[in-house]
Amino acid sequence: MRIGVLTGGGDCPGLNAVIRAVVRKGVATYGHEFVGFRDGWKGPLEGLSKPLGIPEVRGILPRGGTILGSSRTNPFKIENGVERIKENLAGQGVDALIAIGGEDTLGVATKLHELGVNVVGVPKTIDNDLGATDYTFGFDTAVNIAMEAIDRLHTTAESHHRTLVVEVMGRHAGWIALHAGLAGGANVILLPERKFDVDQVAGYVEKRFQHQYAPIVVVAEGAQPLDGQMVLHNQELDAFGHVRLGGIGQWLAEQLEAKTGKEARTVVLGHIQRGGTPTAFDRVLATRLGLQAIDAAHEGDWGKMVAMQSTDIVRVPLAEATRELKTVPIERYDEAEVFFGS
Ligand code: F6P
Repeated sequence: MRIGVLTGGGDCPGLNAVIRAVVRKGVATYGHEFVGFRDGWKGPLEGLSKPLGIPEVRGILPRGGTILGSSRTNPFKIENGVERIKENLAGQGVDALIAIGGEDTLGVATKLHELGVNVVGVPKTIDNDLGATDYTFGFDTAVNIAMEAIDRLHTTAESHHRTLVVEVMGRHAGWIALHAGLAGGANVILLPERKFDVDQVAGYVEKRFQHQYAPIVVVAEGAQPLDGQMVLHNQELDAFGHVRLGGIGQWLAEQLEAKTGKEARTVVLGHIQRGGTPTAFDRVLATRLGLQAIDAAHEGDWGKMVAMQSTDIVRVPLAEATRELKTVPIERYDEAEVFFGS
């Protein structure tokens, strides 16, 4: 069989580990051939491909990013997009696709499968918010990067008696904020799942100063204060059609400074959370998902997404993956609240 592989959406540490596992087992165990499609769905849409064999996947296990490139191109938003993909797959003699991506990429994979394209999906997002899988690779790496930043910020915040607000990624779900905040000993954690009261946050900050320690506030980029406490920050689409978030950290630091009279600074971790080498956990998870994906393709088990459930790697219908976003359960947030302000 000739199998196309693509990576779509925001990049994520571990993508190369998936590609490597797919190709290594696909060639060595099953004797399949591979084509690497460039830049997500843009590759099959425009016929942009590159060779993908054992030599191309040597040495890529620890490398962040993706050797195939990525984009947020959606063929369903482009005229004749689906027909063009089908033509290009046929033109390159490609029988099936392994699509590695998040909600948008897998949403496209689901629809293409319904239209007769042979697809297997592999879940990816540092946000850890995809349904049907307990963990996505890239999340553990992002949490570790954010935790290290928080560790460092404690000492400088304490030296200067300042509040430090750390803005982490997470548009719709606060998994990174919750885990990095707990692991880094943050004094307040704010998530998109629960609107916060800025006066209550100021209260936690003051309490922390009373204990002679400087507060660290971790805020997810998609967190919002209670209605009426703030004019929504910029959520407009940029020139590339991406939603630009960010700004909540800066706004919050200004509010906390005004309300507590203590200097406050903001650190926006941004794309540093997505860059660099994956942790051991993410390398192993990505590898296991890749191995299961090539097994599914070899068996012709199309329309499936590979997933981690408990410690097992299983297959679920692709449609299930994108049905519901996995947000932080409120009990998990309540659990963390005991540390706020103390
Ligand atoms: O979904 C992954 C993610 O990193 C989000 O946490 C973040 O909001 C978004 O992608 C940023 O996307 P971009 O790289 O397009 O700015």
